[in-house]
Amino acid sequence: MRLRGRKGIREAIESQTDLVILNPQEYKGNWSEYFGNDLPIHVELGMGKGRFISQMSLQHPEANFIGVDMYDELLRRASEKARLARKEADQDEADLPNLALALFNIEYIEDIFAPGELERIYLNFSDPWPKKKHSRRRLTHPRFVDKYRTLLNERGEIHLKTDSRSLFEFSLNSFADMGLRMRHISLSLHGEGVNPDHVMTEYESKFVEQGVHIHRCEVMIGSEALRSHEKQLAAQPL
Ligand SMILES: C[S@@+](CC[C@H](N)C(=O)[O-])C[C@H]1O[C@@H](n2cnc3c(N)ncnc32)[C@H](O)[C@@H]1O
Repeated sequence: MRLRGRKGIREAIESQTDLVILNPQEYKGNWSEYFGNDLPIHVELGMGKGRFISQMSLQHPEANFIGVDMYDELLRRASEKARLARKEADQDEADLPNLALALFNIEYIEDIFAPGELERIYLNFSDPWPKKKHSRRRLTHPRFVDKYRTLLNERGEIHLKTDSRSLFEFSLNSFADMGLRMRHISLSLHGEGVNPDHVMTEYESKFVEQGVHIHRCEVMIGSEALRSHEKQLAAQPL
């Protein structure tokens, strides 16, 4: 692994103004202007090394993607990964029109997004904070879900994946206590084999290799998300 000092890492991310955002508060309410279009905005909170967000942005040009993490080094690694993914797809590694990587503490997420500005929030392998006394730090604690509810638009959804059974139980209870509707709940996402269309995160592929079960669910927040789900259900035979 290439080693760099803290200064080198900072310089590496500071120089990538086309991709890395060190002051995301300045874009609150103006992300569409930042991307230069009105495409829906999907955010991964705690993107880590960025495999998921870079692959999603590559495979889904019909949306804009923002990866958020609070460590310089992870932003640097995610930026390298994003450019490499474009290169491997025979695309220009400098051309990342629908991806931004933001350095920020999710604790204050409402400072970087305006109400209704987001269409989807991905929570992939969030820190489980297993001790009860730390439960408020879990990213699916009602105090966070309440913020997500405000930030998501009428088509808004939260998609959660985790290896942690205790975090999954906590999250389902949290969503249910808030009266939120869930769908596609799975206790073993890859139980019948990995779907090649499914984009895995770094943590996920490590766990899948170890045979660990992945839990997943989708939470419908916006009225339109709920309506289209109801429509799909009504079309299915009982
Ligand atoms: C367990 S890792 C998962 C990384 C990635 N999503 C994956 O599945 O491979 C959790 C990530 O969340 C980030 N994180 C945790 N709390 C955060 C916070 N309050 N603000 C920003 N990032 C945070 C960590 O830095 C870490 O990269």
